[in-house]
Amino acid sequence: MIHPVADKILRWYHSHRRDLPWRNTRDPYAIWISEIMLQQTRVQTVLPYYRRFISRFPTVQDLAAASLEDVLKAWENLGYYRRARNLHAAARQIMERFHGVFPRVEEELLLLPGIGSYTAAAIASIAYGEKTPAIDGNVRRVLSRVFAVQTPVDLGETQKSLRALAEKVIPAKDPGGFNQGLMDLGAGVCTPRNPSCAACPLKTLCLAAIKGIQETLPIQRKRARVPHREMVAAILENGRGGYLVMQRPPSGLLGGLWGFPGGDKPPNQSREQALIDAVQHEFGIRVACGGKWVVVKHAYSHFRVTLHACVCRIQEGEPDPSGQHPWRWAGPEDLSNLPFANVDRKVMQALSLA
Ligand code: ADE
Repeated sequence: MIHPVADKILRWYHSHRRDLPWRNTRDPYAIWISEIMLQQTRVQTVLPYYRRFISRFPTVQDLAAASLEDVLKAWENLGYYRRARNLHAAARQIMERFHGVFPRVEEELLLLPGIGSYTAAAIASIAYGEKTPAIDGNVRRVLSRVFAVQTPVDLGETQKSLRALAEKVIPAKDPGGFNQGLMDLGAGVCTPRNPSCAACPLKTLCLAAIKGIQETLPIQRKRARVPHREMVAAILENGRGGYLVMQRPPSGLLGGLWGFPGGDKPPNQSREQALIDAVQHEFGIRVACGGKWVVVKHAYSHFRVTLHACVCRIQEGEPDPSGQHPWRWAGPEDLSNLPFANVDRKVMQALSLA
């Protein structure tokens, strides 16, 4: 017995499906290439790359025999280059570990670099007709609406129940068409905003549409607030056009990049005092703030920074040449040639230093 949701999706898919080159083949190699290219990339962008790649490397043997440089060249401008490196490495593993035979089951596909659960299920269902649901964010959105799932979709528990629902619905016959039907539905009909419910094959079955709550699903928890750091930096000039710059330790944030001395501003301290303390600690010298501050903001993946930078002069002492970090007095050439972090470039620009 086919589930009514699967029945509607399959009928709709076979009358509305987009005609895409990887849909006219059961060759697992060609389907694999398409699924990797379609990660994080839209169909329209992928099409010319896919055609060129397949004619350049028609089989897994050809891909394995190619140089990585040639593969990267074929990938140029498609982005996320790790995908190309993984494809190349996986092709070589298929030649060595699987004797040139493309793996046939999901568990073996999962062993290859670059193939996660979504991609393994997509290949297994489309190329081999294995009854396994391919679930990504788009498919979760469709399922959470069809079944009016009202717990946060980013919770492990919710994802488990969505998977269980998909496993209940997926048909034994044409699971690949079912998975691709869900993909097409998510891409063109059941969109994040303003879904086209009137055109949806599931409109009479979709619990969210029946309740009129489709726009509120899937429910996302509030993202954790990104932490924010207040920092200070000293722009210290030596009277001969040189600025004191230091190299960050090789491990850690911005490792190996150059920057201006400074550090975190404790919440209970003025920025002047924080700056004086930081330079004293790092270089054993006393500086005075010249009064001119520039403030730049910068966002990293897991925190934001507001950096307060001040033009300073030395009041007492000389920087210790054998300090804990490499440092130098940088003239215009060093300022433009040394690798600096983006936030330091913003300071230089604000002060017209380089
Ligand atoms: N996105 C990921 N896989 C896809 C496929 N096979 N067809 C269309 N869009 C996709």
